[in-house]
Amino acid sequence: MQSILWENGCLMLLNQTLLPERTEYITCRDYRRVAEAIRRLEVRGAPAIGAAAAFGMVLGARELSVESLDFWDKFAVIADELKQTRPTAVNLFWAVDRMFTAAKRYYQKESNTIHLISLLEAEALAIFEEDKEVNKRISAHGAALFNKKISILTHCNAGALATVAWGTALGVIRQAFSQGKIQRVFADETRPLLQGARLTAWELLQEGIPTTLITDSMAGWVMKKRMVDAVIVGADRITLSGDVANKIGTYSVAVLAKEHNLPFYVAAPLSTFDFSLEKGEDIQIEERAASEVTGFGGTTTAPGGVEVFNPAFDVTPAALVTAIITEEGIVTPPYIDNIRKLKELKGGK
Ligand code: MRU
Repeated sequence: MQSILWENGCLMLLNQTLLPERTEYITCRDYRRVAEAIRRLEVRGAPAIGAAAAFGMVLGARELSVESLDFWDKFAVIADELKQTRPTAVNLFWAVDRMFTAAKRYYQKESNTIHLISLLEAEALAIFEEDKEVNKRISAHGAALFNKKISILTHCNAGALATVAWGTALGVIRQAFSQGKIQRVFADETRPLLQGARLTAWELLQEGIPTTLITDSMAGWVMKKRMVDAVIVGADRITLSGDVANKIGTYSVAVLAKEHNLPFYVAAPLSTFDFSLEKGEDIQIEERAASEVTGFGGTTTAPGGVEVFNPAFDVTPAALVTAIITEEGIVTPPYIDNIRKLKELKGGK
């Protein structure tokens, strides 16, 4: 099941808010619907959001005329609207900026609207295809870390649904499973929106990977009982110092892993690194509606009027991260030096 499809000039998004009960696609014919889908988490996961926004830029450009004097002002407004949907996942900003830069590059050569749009479409498709290929490389590097059959715990969903295909953390698990190295996956349910229960458990069962679903509060006990050998998660933004923003609850899992002497791995593409930020404190953490905490699926679970704090992400300090698995290989401490090397590899951007 593909999270994102580009068909006949429309973006089709698998509506992840309905999973696992229903598999329905949303047809996005304009960029506003793409922005809405990102905001509502109908498409979610850092790389998937980035790819969806790239196609959003194509849909946005289709509403404009390159010949008109205000083309660039209007295109910048569209880029900003897409960027404002969710603040934490840097892949969103990376993809929108890449599309804008590509438009500028092509514009110098060709100022015909139809031609510019077809070049932008090719750029969005390149982002789409690259994500698949990058995830395969991350998975190969990650699976090579394990030299015996292990049980592994994961948090949230960093699978095919969170990317264009295959996944990052779940990609590593898939690859390791195909090599006979995975005994069992423990999937945290991931309060409050249950990405672990609804999406990760669904993906893993489809692959026939032995999976045990636990609530977030059970992770410590599972580690204490030596039921897992390692933890692997995805990321939404990684700073130069190696601090990692990921789904709320990741930090707690990392602290627990340290206490139980378990390796804590992060799997992420280079597009998830924010080389402009030094430390985790500088990452903007999205806060979402109180209703996500006070109830689920139309059922209220808290008294009306109670104050709620609902950060969608937390930051795991680099000191708790054993290694970061990227398409270019495994990054280990000292992160500040080794992430700088990755930055140079990306041409300093
Ligand atoms: O709020 P979400 O569901 O978009 O959060 C997703 C995560 O935190 C993922 O772990 C992260 O984006 C990595 S996806 C490969």
